[in-house]
Amino acid sequence: MKKQLGPSDAIFPVPAALIVSGTDEDANIITLAWVGIASSTPPTIGISIRQSRYSLELIRNTGEFSVNFPDASIFKEVDYCGITTGRRRNKFKDTGFTPLASKKIKSPIIKECPYNIECRVSQEIIIGDYVHILGEILESHVDGDKADKSKRAGFDLLKINPLVYFAEAREYWTVGEKLGYGFSAGKAIKEKSKNR
Ligand SMILES: Cc1cc2nc3c(=O)[nH]c(=O)nc-3n(C[C@H](O)[C@H](O)[C@H](O)COP(=O)(O)O)c2cc1C
Repeated sequence: MKKQLGPSDAIFPVPAALIVSGTDEDANIITLAWVGIASSTPPTIGISIRQSRYSLELIRNTGEFSVNFPDASIFKEVDYCGITTGRRRNKFKDTGFTPLASKKIKSPIIKECPYNIECRVSQEIIIGDYVHILGEILESHVDGDKADKSKRAGFDLLKINPLVYFAEAREYWTVGEKLGYGFSAGKAIKEKSKNR
């Protein structure tokens, strides 16, 4: 028997990503959970921002932003960036995060986040109180000590130790153990089904 929870916006887990907008002294950080890949070709990320956010103004001004994926150790700084507005505080200074020059855009990436991507806005869709921004991914970066050529992704996920978020419960988590491989773990069932 299923129990209905209503029209929930909860899917899990989601990233707790740090989006940097603006440039130089005006660069700002916002924490976003509503972040996901929208297309592989061209590589595109979707982020949803409430219309009232300062970060939305900055993204609209430059048409660019970086998405920075934190590791679990900095979850308090991540939370701070999600409860403080850049209208009144410099979140780089308050958290001690270091802005690093991006390669293709003017907004910086965050040094303390092990994985970062640079994006240029390609579309904007207004959905109620939110704006869904699609950003074409122009470049990605991983910490050198976490890069691993033998891995399909080019890095070792365990070394990244990504922070994940269970939004409905407002809980920060780490990832668990690897179970198997995508596009492969289902093959045994596929073989069995063929003979049915
Ligand atoms: C874990 C977490 C996830 C969040 N996810 C979102 C989100 O997906 N969209 C959004 O508009 N705000 C989200 N927020 C709220 C913003 O981060 C918050 O309002 C922030 O202070 C806005 O910063 P700004 O005014 O400098 O742009 C989230 C906050 C936290 C703590």
